[in-house]
Amino acid sequence: MTGPLRRLAVVGAGSMGAQIAQQAALHGIDVRLQDTSEEQLRKAVESNRGHLLRRVEKGRLTAEAAEAAIGRVRTTTDLAEAVGDADLVIEAVFEDLGVKRSIFGELDRLAPRDAVLASNSSTMAISKIADATDRRDRCVSMHFFYPVLVMDLVEVVRGRETSDQTVEKALAAARAMDRTPVLINKEIDGFIVNRILHAATQEAYRLLDAGVAGFEDIDIAVEKGLNWPLGPFRLGDFSGLDVTYKARRHMFDSTGDERYRPSPQLEAKVKAGKLGRKTGEGWYKYSQ
Ligand SMILES: NC(=O)c1ccc[n+]([C@@H]2O[C@H](COP(=O)([O-])OP(=O)(O)OC[C@H]3O[C@@H](n4cnc5c(N)ncnc54)[C@H](O)[C@@H]3O)[C@@H](O)[C@H]2O)c1
Repeated sequence: MTGPLRRLAVVGAGSMGAQIAQQAALHGIDVRLQDTSEEQLRKAVESNRGHLLRRVEKGRLTAEAAEAAIGRVRTTTDLAEAVGDADLVIEAVFEDLGVKRSIFGELDRLAPRDAVLASNSSTMAISKIADATDRRDRCVSMHFFYPVLVMDLVEVVRGRETSDQTVEKALAAARAMDRTPVLINKEIDGFIVNRILHAATQEAYRLLDAGVAGFEDIDIAVEKGLNWPLGPFRLGDFSGLDVTYKARRHMFDSTGDERYRPSPQLEAKVKAGKLGRKTGEGWYKYSQ
């Protein structure tokens, strides 16, 4: 990647990848969005179109700008086609180290030598993924927040071998997408935001598990008393209780620290498939 970001490839068209691609395209960047599933690619395009058309209805975007931004995201199931001329590749597939390492190995082979490879992982140190490549200096974490079309922040995390130039490129790429980057100089679990969020949310689960208050009242207390837009349980339903659970499980397994042990009530929800909004029920019930 030399000069400004012109061509972005996003690997994984789920909740995060779809909107990372659309956010970049809204700011004039040509994007290839790749997924192994045709169905996921179709859903990503449909959902992005819905989001942009709502902006048009509200008068926040012209119909022409919306169509142009939608047209700038080209989808494919072919990884080589997606990344062959990319300046920057952002990987946003399932939170599975083996899968991410194997994708980074392929990206190293398929993307231009000077392309930067970024991972959107919420929990994994980039060094552990970059190990699978011969360009560890050009690998970096770019951690976006859900929903990417709304949430302004990107945590850029420097790995042990990430070069200064790569860090600069990641910061510049986030800005080119009209997102505000912060730089984290050490690969710590949870980065900044999730670390602070986990501490507060774990306390909420401890209160729930100890029978101190019900989840609705804890949410109301946090929303009214701390001015959070969503209390911890409503927020969990919004981002997916499986995501919250896996992040805790990973932190607990990797540190052995009791502070991160997942709540039994959270574990029970995940085991019952009650994952929040996306399944119609989590802590709360949602009509589809
Ligand atoms: N959901 C969040 O709130 C959130 C926030 C920040 C970061 N993240 C991180 O973003 C990443 C993706 O999360 P998500 O919530 O979008 O997941 P998701 O389950 O919605 O989507 C994952 C996508 O990856 C695709 N995929 C799986 N294997 C693939 C492969 N080999 N090649 C190409 N595509 C493949 C799947 O088909 C699916 O479309 C994870 O690393 C997660 O930690 C998630």
